[in-house]
Parts: sequence; C-alpha cells; structure tokens
Amino acid sequence: MQFKTFIQFSIFMFLFGSCQKLKIEEGRSLLIPLPAQHTFYNASFTFEQDLRITADDFFQVTPKFLEHFFLRNGSVRINESDNAPEIIFIKVDSIDHEEGYVLDVLPDQIQIHASTEKGAFYAVQSLRQLLPSLFENDHNEIHDVSIQCQRIEDEARFKYRGMHLDVGRHLFPVEFIKKYIDALAMLKMNTFHWHLTEDQGWRVEIKKYPKLNEIAAFRKETLIGHYSDQPHQFDGEHYGGFYTQEEIKEVVNYAEERHITVIPEIEMPGHSQAAIAAYPELGCREEQVEVATKWGVFEEIYCSKDETFDFLEDVLDEVLALFPSEFIHIGGDEAPKTRWENCNECQLRIKNEGLKDEHELQNYFISRIEKYLNSKGRQIIGWDEILEGGLAPNATVMSWRGLNGAIEAAKLGHRVIMSPTSHCYFDYYQSDNETEPLAIGGFLPMEKVYAFDPIPEELSEEESNYVLGAQGNVWTEYMKTSEQVEYMVFPRILAMSEVGWTNKEKKNYDDFVPRVEHFHKRLKALNINYANHLYEVEGHLESSEGTNNYHLETITEGKEIRYTLDGSSPTKNSRLYTSSIPIEKSTLIKAALFKSEKKLGHIFSERINVHKAVGKHITINKKAHKSYPGSGAKGLVNGISGSDSRYGDKEWLGFWGDDLEITIDLGKETEISTIETRFHNGNGQWIYAPKKMETRFDDDKDILFTKISTAGLIARTIIQFDSRKARYIRIKIPNYGVIPEGKQGAGNKAWTFIDEIIVN
Ligand code: ACM
Ligand code: ZN
Repeated sequence: MQFKTFIQFSIFMFLFGSCQKLKIEEGRSLLIPLPAQHTFYNASFTFEQDLRITADDFFQVTPKFLEHFFLRNGSVRINESDNAPEIIFIKVDSIDHEEGYVLDVLPDQIQIHASTEKGAFYAVQSLRQLLPSLFENDHNEIHDVSIQCQRIEDEARFKYRGMHLDVGRHLFPVEFIKKYIDALAMLKMNTFHWHLTEDQGWRVEIKKYPKLNEIAAFRKETLIGHYSDQPHQFDGEHYGGFYTQEEIKEVVNYAEERHITVIPEIEMPGHSQAAIAAYPELGCREEQVEVATKWGVFEEIYCSKDETFDFLEDVLDEVLALFPSEFIHIGGDEAPKTRWENCNECQLRIKNEGLKDEHELQNYFISRIEKYLNSKGRQIIGWDEILEGGLAPNATVMSWRGLNGAIEAAKLGHRVIMSPTSHCYFDYYQSDNETEPLAIGGFLPMEKVYAFDPIPEELSEEESNYVLGAQGNVWTEYMKTSEQVEYMVFPRILAMSEVGWTNKEKKNYDDFVPRVEHFHKRLKALNINYANHLYEVEGHLESSEGTNNYHLETITEGKEIRYTLDGSSPTKNSRLYTSSIPIEKSTLIKAALFKSEKKLGHIFSERINVHKAVGKHITINKKAHKSYPGSGAKGLVNGISGSDSRYGDKEWLGFWGDDLEITIDLGKETEISTIETRFHNGNGQWIYAPKKMETRFDDDKDILFTKISTAGLIARTIIQFDSRKARYIRIKIPNYGVIPEGKQGAGNKAWTFIDEIIVN
C-alpha cells in the first residue's frame, strides 16, 4: 500500500474538510486483528441521531452493509441531510492491496478509503470495533457516543485466512452457520471450509443420489463419553440431517456478501462409510455397512473401480453448481488401504495403471478427481496425506499432521495452507483446568494459537510464497451443540485472526491479552458463548541449589492472587500472593484471582510431589519436539505431573519417533528403591506408550527391563527394586515404532509423551 500518498491526501482533508489541524496523541489500538498502522489524534467524532452515509459510485455493496448495521441497531437514523455527520466511502486506486484500506476518523467525517469492496468491507469491520459494543445489540438506546479521531492503515499478511467446521459428526442449524460466518467476517477472515461428508453423516443434498440423504445423512445412535472410555456405550438415539441445496445456496450467498469464500469438502477415498452405507456398491466388498456411530478411522473406503468415479463426478457436478469457489477440498486423509489390498478391482487397477502399491493407487484416485475438477476450472485442496504415493500435479496441500507436509509440498512448488494439530486444532482442550467440558484431548491454549507463524523456518523466501495462509479446524466429535462450538472456537479464533492478518513484527501476546479482555463485551453483545481463561492462575516450580520455590502468575493486569496450602478453596481472605512460595515438602497449592474482593475464573490447583529427583540435573539425548516442548527436560523432575487428558500441557514432553536416553544426576549417592513415570497413550492422536523401558544405575552393567502396559489413556509405569545407593539413573525408552495398519496415523512413527520421573 502506498501510505505516503495518503498522508498528503489526508492533510488536505484536515485543512479543507474539517478546517481543523489535528495533533497526534498517545493511544492503544484495541482492534482484533491488530492493524498495520493505528494513529490517534486529539479530537473526536460524535454520533448523533442522524447519520449520513455517502459513497463513490464504485461502492455498491459495503455502504449498504454499514447502513444495515446501524439500522438494525435502531439507535442512529440514516439521513441524507447535509448537516448530519457523515461516513464517506472514497475509491482510491493507489491502495494496491486487494484487502487493504485506510480509515480516517475526523472531527465531522469518517472516511473510508479503498480500491475494492473488500478493502472497504474490512474498513467497516474496523470501524465497528471502534464503536461501543452496544452497537452490536439489536435496538439499543445509544446517546452521545463519540470516538477519538484516528487513522488506521491496514492490509492482510496472508491471502487465505480460514476457519473450518465439521458438520459430519454433529450438525448445526443454518442460522448458526450464518452466525459463524458473521464472526469470521468481523475478524477479517475470508474462507469458510465446510466439511460436509463423513463416516458418521453425509450433509449435502445430492439430487441424483437420494439415498445419500435418506440413509447416509442419519446414524442409528452416537457414542457417549470419550472414545477412550471402555467399554463403548451409545445413546440409542437416531441422529442426523442434511443441508438442502437451497440452504447451501443461501449460506454461500450470505458468505459472499461478507467476502467469505465457502470451500466445500467432499471426503475421498476415506471417511466415506456413510456414503457406502447408502450405496454399498461404492465399497470394495459391496457389503451393507452402517453409518458410523463412533469416531475414528474406518476401513470402508471408496473402491477405485470406474463406477465410483462416475458417482463422485456426478456428486461433484452438483457440488460445483452450489459452490463457486476456485478450490474444492477432496479430503484425502486417513484412508486405510486394507480394503484395496484385498479387492480384485483395486489390484487390477494397480496392475493396469503400472502402480507400485496402494499408496500410488491413492495418488491415482486423487489425480483422477483433480483432472476432472481442473477440467471444470477448479483446483483441489487435500489434506497432507495426498503427498503419499506422489502429489497430484496442481494440488494445494492442507498441512495438518505437523508442518512437514507443507514444507515438502512448498519445496515441490505446490501451494499450501497451514493447519497443524499443534497450533490450529480447536477441538483440543484450551485450558488444563479439570472442569473443562469433554474434548478430544490435547492442549491448545490461546497463547499457543497466537504464537503460530504459518511460515516454517525451513522454507526459503521464495518457497514461502507458496504458503497461502492458515486455518483453524473445528472437528465436532465432542461438540454436540452450537453453544459448544462457540465455546471451543472463542476466543482462540481471535488469536487465529491475528495469525492470518497481522504482520509478524507487530504481534505481541502481552498486547493481545488486554484486547481480548476488551473484546469480551463485544462477544457478549453478539450472544457468543465464549470461553474465558484470562482469569486463571498459572504456576511453576523453580529449583536452585537444593531449594524449591513455587511461582504463581496471571496474565491480566489489576488483579490479586490469593492462595491456600491446606487444600481449602481460596477466598478473598486467603493469603495474598506477593512472592514465591518455598516448597520443602509435598504440597497442594490452591489459588484464585480476585478483583475488588470478587473471585474471577476457576480455582487453580497444583500438587507438588517433592521426591528425590526434584530439581536435580537431568539430560535427554533428544530435545522434545518444538510443538510439544513442555517445560523442557527439567519439567520431568519438577515434582509436577501432567494432566491426564491434556498431553500438550507444560508438564508433558512430546517426542516424535525418537528413542530416548535420559540421565538423572541426583548430585550425590542417594538411597532409592522406586522409579515411577507415566506415558500418554492417546492412540487417536498418534501417541503410543513405549513397549518397554531399560534402567541402569551409575556405571553398572546390569539393566532393569520393564515391560510397559499399554491399556488405557495413561500408562503408569513403576520400577521397584531392592533399596540401593546410586547417584546416576540412566533410562532408555525406545519409541513404540510405526503405527499399525487400521489405526489413526497408520504407517507413521508414533509419538512418545512422558510427564515426570518420580524417584523415591
Ligand atoms: C484430519 O484432521 N483428519 C484432517
Ligand atoms: Zn476396490
């Protein structure tokens, strides 16, 4: 954007438009996402009963959107009269960024400068955030609202700023889909990835194949509780539905009016059990299966015979008529190859096409669909598994299993979109508070979303041009209602909006937090069920020279931390935290945040188990994976265990495929008789407890072999031996190995997650 031209232009306006010279003042931008430049002046613009909205002829849509925003609220009358304060849309060709704008709030006029409707639309979204949140409610009485004079010069960092929503596992009403789209638009996001087909339900009306809607859209019942709760139990309730083509058109239009592209996802060849339930001939075995009633990865995938392609092309024809997007998402993830291995048609296809194996058959499948969609003028996006067995020539890769898929694809000259589980999966827990509603697992607090940089270090500047942007994913196995989707999405979407929009140099979490706190009022006004974890207390143990001190902290300003050490719940009369707490024996700390004697947020609770290795020197032959660093090696001897369900918290260290060698130096010969540790075993997230552990002391040759039980979500491992003296404890933990066929992540290396090594 050429800001220089603007500065001259606006001085002109100050002189001749307002006949007043403005001075720059200190100010703090409260916008989300944070704009590129935000300057404040020493005057203000006052909203009166009447407001005039005028625009260059070029702007046909956005001024109406703004008008509607005010009219819906009912507090401001739109009036043509010359003396009403004015908001004016000015077309300025020198703003060369398609989504860029300049917003000037002057004493008697608000100017929106843009070269496109998109730019003007984003200026309106910024203006909206400058107004009190009362303007978001319908029919409010608003008097004497004035906003400080200011200038915002802004443009997007990334071209693709997306949010995904899985409606296969649970279905949400059209009204909610629109509310979701409204929120995306408010946050200057521009893509809604609508995941429409799943093993558990087919959600798009296809007129040529009515059984997709009669059979594939419904399941007989749904799993209760978490997948890892055994034995599996079901609710016995018939569940389902689908979006009619009319409803879809309505959503696509609604999104388009808000500059949001809707990308439909029609999954293939995997995650297609519901379609196969409706049309068994699409599967290799042609046997009747049922629409899935639990979560996971299923072996029923589309057969590679010609009839499947006829079906998919027919389906896509109807999909293309509904969705004008350049991109069509064809899935491609989690397709076990067991059916193909045992199918005559698929084996014949491998032979006739000269393919090496079933992975190359997957490439054949995706490439054939790509060719079809390219012939219709569309491009495909696929999850990063589409790299296996060769990448379809024009495909865009959506990288979810970490960043490697994106790195590989960008180096091959393919476009990529970043949505790694580590930073972009909003189905993960957002707090390690045990009171959180049931979620799939993992741990992705807002801070980690915020820290995400879509450009991996491994890419050169040239290669990073292939990174289109980033996306938050919302898989809904554990989100039955729209309210729960909102809870999981907000406020992490605020962080994601800034990941996609704001320049890396401007991003700062400490600056972001008060803006989120301020944004709560707007979310409330919009009736969005956001999660609030800003008022939680966090803690960590620091050890040096044999003393251990526990530190408490919180991220927002102006509040008090009060705590107890006797297990009771903290009250406004509990001890005020002023400096770190010395820990001499095992201790339970409970703490909470208070403002004006009122408790905010949840009670924080931490058990510190002072064992013989706490605070001692520890080394590991490998660094934890950068996505799951926990608190580093010393976190394994800090007296604190990880959360059972949230393996990404700051106590769990994650290693991908590494064989580990850990040495603990107890500092001096110490009497010991047990070593206890835990491994996470969240197989759905590719995490497998290792099969064994080998322990050795000092320079002994003798090795203690320990077999590890891998039943359940946590593998607790205790090594007991005759009491002995040792200074060094040396532990070898070989990685589980490759994930077996039929499981999520089959064929990949397993992750190892370990939280604490307790020595007594
Ligand atoms: C995915 O999360 N299976 C793309
Ligand atoms: Zn087959």
